Amino acid sequence: MKAICYISNFSKDLSKNDIDELINDVNKKNKIHDVTGLLIIKNKHFFQILEGEEEKVDELYEKIKVDSRHTGVIRLLDTKIEGRIFKDYNSGKFDVFQRFTSMKKLYLYFNWIKNADYLPADELIKLTTNFLNNNK
Ligand SMILES: Cc1cc2nc3c(=O)[nH]c(=O)nc-3n(C[C@H](O)[C@H](O)[C@H](O)COP(=O)(O)O)c2cc1C
Repeated sequence: MKAICYISNFSKDLSKNDIDELINDVNKKNKIHDVTGLLIIKNKHFFQILEGEEEKVDELYEKIKVDSRHTGVIRLLDTKIEGRIFKDYNSGKFDVFQRFTSMKKLYLYFNWIKNADYLPADELIKLTTNFLNNNK
């Protein structure tokens, strides 16, 4: 099992339709590949955490990296994990956050993972909080 976390920027203006299409695709494919995690879309930036089987996550990240819808992809975390953080929390659903109301859910999630003693939890909270604070 491994987790990868990255940030990136929109490469061009994406319409609501473009975003909806991306979200649908992400949800559908991640379910098939048993990839869990979250995607935050804020002020033309993406922040994503992916977790799953090592090979699957690496393969997916290679695809995502060259996707023309975004640019300036920076990998913030690439680590082996003992178990999934997101599956337990969210029964395997891939979460996408865009609006303030869903951000609240994100903070509930932070409280939840603080109590799970998986190694990258603190790191992930720090990275996510930095991302949100830089993109208010
Ligand atoms: C910001 C961003 C996040 C993405 N996240 C995922 C993802 O979590 N899972 C996924 O399957 N594709 C994701 N994609 C789409 C992939 O880059 C790629 O288009 C897709 O995996 C192609 O799949 P295919 O080769 O099976 O058609 C993402 C794309 C962008 C721009």
